Amino acid sequence: MFKTILQFTLIFLIVSIVVAFNNADNRISKYTESQPNPYPKTVSEALIQFGEEKPNHHIEKIDADSARMGEEIVKYGSLLDGSNKRISKYFVCTDCHNVQMEISDPADDSPEAVLEYGMKNDVPYLPASTFYGMYNKEHWYNDDYAKKYGDLVKPTRDSLYNAIQLCATQCSQGRLMDHWEVRAVLHYYKSLELKISDLKFNDKDMETFTYLLSTNKKEAAKMLKGRYTQVNHAHFGTSEIPKVEGYKPNAEQGKYIFNKGCLHCHDKKKGITNFAMSDDKLSLNFLHRKKDKYNNLAVPHITRYGTYAMSGRKQYMPMYSFEKMSKTQLLDLLYYIETGGSN
Ligand code: HEC
Ligand code: HEC
Repeated sequence: MFKTILQFTLIFLIVSIVVAFNNADNRISKYTESQPNPYPKTVSEALIQFGEEKPNHHIEKIDADSARMGEEIVKYGSLLDGSNKRISKYFVCTDCHNVQMEISDPADDSPEAVLEYGMKNDVPYLPASTFYGMYNKEHWYNDDYAKKYGDLVKPTRDSLYNAIQLCATQCSQGRLMDHWEVRAVLHYYKSLELKISDLKFNDKDMETFTYLLSTNKKEAAKMLKGRYTQVNHAHFGTSEIPKVEGYKPNAEQGKYIFNKGCLHCHDKKKGITNFAMSDDKLSLNFLHRKKDKYNNLAVPHITRYGTYAMSGRKQYMPMYSFEKMSKTQLLDLLYYIETGGSN
């Protein structure tokens, strides 16, 4: 695996140099240090080099100070030196979004792949998409989010900038961010963009890709885009307990979802909700007894619908779309709630 990445990077470097020289009309002397990013390390840089249009959130070069400020806003809600107001009184971005990779192969972001990677790497199992690679997406608030937020999603479909603002005000029930704050978050996102080395290429792919690099950049770009997903899809479910013929629920997976998903917010120590739970029989039995109700205390209901912010009580629970928790995973969770928990 490491060897493959190394090989790939090497070939990419060589070809990039060749391409760079060729672009200079063979006048080698013209090639100087000032050539921007002759060796792309990131997916977005490579795509631009292949002639793709720059996205409207394009950042030429990360400003380390801005990225740090963006990270502080995302993780703590405001700058650590206290010089700006918190974005939201109720949440920080990382209550709902991870900032690390959630999958081993950026081309497969299925809930199964996320769960497998999450269990191995102890990653929270959250209802919103990770910020790792958010910079590389092309549309935001996709599919059923139009149902939840209506016309509000329109300006976000093609603009990461606007998507951040919608989330600051709606999802996190906070204030509009200042321009510099959004820019800082974008610089932080840029630091979390997909690297070429994150993508999975086997030897055969690499041969094809190397060939395309020198013959057909448009196809090379297409191939690169085939190695990661350009949007986070979202489809909403209903409160019914899923029926999946022949599926035997997995308690280990259910335990992971409960502990790294539900308790990410419902743990007493978090202080996000009034509804504290823990991984013990008392909490689990309570949930188990309510599972068939059509209300917020029934796990299938709350998981698929979440709750809504109300005046006076702005903390709400985001829903898990099918893309963030599959039907079989909900069955795993229900099974764990029925059978698991410490005394
Ligand atoms: C209470 C939960 C919650 C909080 C807090 C929150 N978000 Fe979100 N965010 C969501 C949900 C749910 C979505 C929609 C689905 C998704 O992420 O794929 C979303 C979507 C987004 C999107 C668009 C993702 C996409 O691919 O469509 C961006 C960008 C975003 N949030 C940024 C932020 C930022 C920046 C903050 C902090 C200032 C923040 N969010 C805080 C829940 C939250
Ligand atoms: C992003 C944070 C977050 C995650 C993750 C989360 N919840 Fe919630 N949940 C909330 C908030 C906030 C509320 C609203 C409670 C309040 O008003 O304090 C809530 C409400 C609830 C309620 C209803 C409580 C009531 O009194 O009406 C239940 C039950 C519940 N959650 C279960 C779950 C389960 C099961 C999971 C895992 C599948 C989960 N939650 C994941 C934040 C979260």
